[in-house]
Amino acid sequence: MDITVHRALCGPWNGPLPPPHSPSTVSLPLSLANSARADCAFYRSGCSVGTLSAMETAGLDSDGHQFNSADEMWTEYTGDDSKKDQWYRDGVSYWEGVEASVNGVLGGYGHVNDADVKDSGVFIRSLFSELFVDGGRNRPLVALDCGSGVGRITKNLLLKYFNEVDLLEPVKHFLDAARESLSDANVAAGSDTHKASNFFCVPLQEFTPETGRYDVIWVQWCIGHLTDNDFVSFFNRAKAGLKPGGFFVMKENIAKSGFVLDKDDRSITRSDLYFRDLFRQCGLHLYKTKDQRGFPKELFAVKMYALTPDVPKVISKTRSKRKANRPAIIH
Ligand SMILES: C[S@@+](CC[C@H](N)C(=O)[O-])C[C@H]1O[C@@H](n2cnc3c(N)ncnc32)[C@H](O)[C@@H]1O
Repeated sequence: MDITVHRALCGPWNGPLPPPHSPSTVSLPLSLANSARADCAFYRSGCSVGTLSAMETAGLDSDGHQFNSADEMWTEYTGDDSKKDQWYRDGVSYWEGVEASVNGVLGGYGHVNDADVKDSGVFIRSLFSELFVDGGRNRPLVALDCGSGVGRITKNLLLKYFNEVDLLEPVKHFLDAARESLSDANVAAGSDTHKASNFFCVPLQEFTPETGRYDVIWVQWCIGHLTDNDFVSFFNRAKAGLKPGGFFVMKENIAKSGFVLDKDDRSITRSDLYFRDLFRQCGLHLYKTKDQRGFPKELFAVKMYALTPDVPKVISKTRSKRKANRPAIIH
């Protein structure tokens, strides 16, 4: 028996519309639909990180072909060095064929930019006030924008909060467009100027950040291109790129269960449980999550995750009673 589930086939960020990248309806076998329900039960039980059962890692590709496990899919597509090279080459060449514009990198959904940036801003402000002394106001802050595309996130979000932003993007014509659009985008924020500093034309799986350079490493709508092994190895290398007290933000499409493989751009959309299992393998602490709101219904759900290398010291904003009640000079 089949249950028909409506989903966006590839999300807004995986290529031009219409088909095959338009929202579509697929038939999921009952077993997969049930595993989505099992996910929900898992959340309701309040469990944050679990060991994934085979059913929870089962997935589909964009032709509706079913895999019993992610391992089965990874073996088929990246099982030896030449297949893996081909996987990454195909991913990059897909994006090389896409127009270097906000609408291009958002797969024809350029209009979600505002809602995306707005909710990311709320998330980042809450993290600054909880994790940085003085909300980060008294020191220069540096961020890395991973899989930056044309610099959409750097321009609309990160430059407002960070004094310097580095961009990493493997597709040259995207990075060239980013460089051009950011060249005179030195944003004035109070007395400071904020600028895009370095433009790295490399893929994430080959990148090792400079030790201790970044307060925040932002990873949005690109980690689906990495295999599980490269995901874990990237975050492990990147931890050393964070300053003490620094953190990662990962913002991604979320599959209802297991994964959905997009054969066109060679990326996978993972479930929340799948991500949490990978974070555990990376030894990362999941500090906070937030759901993106206000996106069109036909798209995948989107989640933001704040991840720290260790359990962080949260900055208390309430002053101690003793301090608050003692006599003090009014300035
Ligand atoms: C959907 S676009 C998102 C761009 C940008 N993060 C944004 O939200 O505007 C996906 C981006 O991932 C990049 N990408 C593809 N393979 C990658 C890889 N192996 N490492 C890093 N980025 C990759 C693509 O070139 C593209 O710019």
